[in-house]
This record gives sequence, C-alpha cells and structure tokens, in this order.
Amino acid sequence: MGLQSLEICDFRNIRHASLTFSPGLNLIRGENAAGKTSLLEAIYYLGRVRSFRTPHVNQPIRDGQAAFRLVGRLLREDSHQIPIGIERQNTGLQVHLDGCVVRRLSDLAGSFPVQVLSGDTPTILSGGPRYRRQALDWALFHVEHAYREVWQRYVRVLRQRNAALRAQRPANQITVWDTELLDAAGQIHQYREMYFEALSTHLHAEVRRLLPFETIQLNYQPGWPAGTTMAERIAMALEKDRALGSTQYGPHRADFKLLVDGRPLQSHCSRGQQKAAVVGFMLAQVRYQQARGAPMGAFLLDDLGSELDARHQSRVLESLRQLDLQVFVSAIDTGPVDLTFWSSVKRFHVEHGEIKEVV
Ligand SMILES: Nc1ncnc2c1ncn2[C@@H]1O[C@H](COP(=O)(O)OP(=O)(O)OP(=O)(O)O)[C@@H](O)[C@H]1O
Ligand SMILES: [Mg+2]
Repeated sequence: MGLQSLEICDFRNIRHASLTFSPGLNLIRGENAAGKTSLLEAIYYLGRVRSFRTPHVNQPIRDGQAAFRLVGRLLREDSHQIPIGIERQNTGLQVHLDGCVVRRLSDLAGSFPVQVLSGDTPTILSGGPRYRRQALDWALFHVEHAYREVWQRYVRVLRQRNAALRAQRPANQITVWDTELLDAAGQIHQYREMYFEALSTHLHAEVRRLLPFETIQLNYQPGWPAGTTMAERIAMALEKDRALGSTQYGPHRADFKLLVDGRPLQSHCSRGQQKAAVVGFMLAQVRYQQARGAPMGAFLLDDLGSELDARHQSRVLESLRQLDLQVFVSAIDTGPVDLTFWSSVKRFHVEHGEIKEVV
C-alpha cells in the first residue's frame, strides 16, 4: 500500500501541487519555511485525517482561503488503485474513499497507515505516557482487530466506574463494574505483553544497526505495580479512587521505558542517538506489522539532518531502505545522502510553497 499521487489545494503555504511519487524513496529538499513539513503533513492527513502539528482543524487551511483539498491515489499490493479525497472547510469535513462518502473515520482505519517522525511531534522519548500508549495502541489497532473492540469495551466500563466514583456512590455501586473492567483489562494486558515480546526481537535488530549498544530492552509497565495484580490494586485503592474521582490502576495508566545496556535511553544517549533510537523503535513497529500481514502505508521522516551527522543519516536511510515501504524524507541539505542502493527514488524541490519534481 502506497501513495501513488497527490493533488494538494490550499494546504498551508501550498497553493496547488500535483505530484506523482516513488513507491520507494521520495526526497524533499528546500530551505527553511519552503513548505517541506507542510507536504509531509498533507500526506499524513490523507492517512489519519488529522495533522501531526496541530489539534486545530482549520490551521492548515491556507491563509485567506475557505478550505483545503487533498486528492490522493493509493496503490494496493494487488495493483488496485483507490482514490481518496479530503476536503476541510472552515465549517466541516468531507472524506471520500473509493468513490464512497466516509461517515465514520474508523471506517478509514488501515486504508493508508502512516507513521511520522518530526521535530513538531512528541516522540516515545520526549512525549508523556499518554503519547507512548497511543503509539502502542496504534500498532495494536492495526494488527489485532479484536484489540480495538476490547479497548473500547474497557474505556466504556472505566467511564461508568469513574462516573460512579465522582458521584460518591456506595461501594457496591462502584465495584459492580470491576468484574467487567478486570476482564477487559486482562485481555488488553495479554495483547500488550504479546506485542512487546514480539517487538523486542525487531527492536534489538533495528537499534543494533543504528547504535553502538549491546542490548536494548523494553520495560513494560502494565498500569499497576510489578508483583501485584490489577484486581488486588483496585480493591486496595477504592478509597483513594473515591477521593480522586477516578480509577488509579489499569491499562489506561500503562507505560514503557527503553533501556540500553541496562540504563535509561534518555540519560545514556546523546540527542542524535535518541533520534536514531526513536527511528529504530518505529521501524521495529513497522517490521512487526509487516510480519503479521498488516499493510503499512508510508513512513514520513521530517528534517533528516537535524541532530544526525552524515554517518547516522546514512544509517537511518539504510534501515528505511531495508523495509519494503514507501518513504518520504525531508531535508534542508541532501548533499551527504548516499542513494546508490535505492532502486526507486524521486526528488522534489520545494520553494515558497511550490513543489517541483527534480528530474
Ligand atoms: N495556514 C497557513 N497558510 C499559509 N501559510 C502557512 C500556513 N501555516 C503555515 N504557513 C507557512 O508555511 C510556510 C512553510 O512552513 P513549513 O513548516 O512547511 O516549512 P519547512 O520547509 O518545513 O521549513 P523548516 O525547514 O524551517 O522546517 C511557513 O512560512 C509558514 O509560516
Ligand atoms: Mg519543517
């Protein structure tokens, strides 16, 4: 699954662009404020129907305009082409997929899965636990369809339990939710444990390729302290839950840490190494998805050169090349990039919102 072509109208500083992409590497070059991140943002929007830069839905509409429009053509593995269109007006949103109006965005899930790494987004290292949970759940949603259902069930019961806590209901009207909560939590925990175990192998291979460490370890925290169970914890925490008006323990509080050679990655690695490690983690997620037969769309890497020296840039690109994946990489200067081994490359130059393919 990849993005074959894209027409952009009035998105950020891009007035109009009509582009055909490589199924391999697409290299986007331009000076500061040219529109490189905006192009990646438009591609991301096609996959996720939101921006990675802002929660404000109208912000990407070009100043002075009433709407932006994105029309893409997705190419499936079986060569089937799927048109996808998104129009965001000040007043609303319209999405079309394969000629049909998309009413629920969850119906789009999996049609063009994209991952992005940009200085404008938090990462699994710089973001908080919520961000790490989102990264974890996104991967599981794509691979395990039953996971989405059990997660939605968990959230529904959790809301009910929290509402009862806030309303200061008697204990039995709170604990009445516990059996179902624990059942859903147990399943989520199992999926996550299984995911982390499978991911560890890929992570080890990816990070070893990028960084000079012997071991990389994923430390999963399920949302309650090690050595106890969630059932024990929620029983013990009932009074605290009532005081705070919310459930303190459970998969909604899960987190994970990365350790290199037994030490926390953040404190043990330089900025450039951290960026390379984040790429390694994201690529491990892609490898896991591919191994499970889930389609992966595109990987977007904004500003390749920031924090990475020429050697690390080459390593990151080499790791990207080894995945069978469409890749979009932006950079101010693509001089140090070695493209010898890529079988399919397209280069684009961006200037004042105008995008031209370099031939
Ligand atoms: N809604 C908008 N309408 C018009 N222009 C916008 C809008 N939002 C942002 N811009 C402008 O678009 C330009 C391109 O921004 P973008 O972030 O894509 O640049 P960039 O090429 O990634 O630069 P850098 O190398 O500094 O990251 C900026 O000058 C920005 O001010
Ligand atoms: Mg940028």
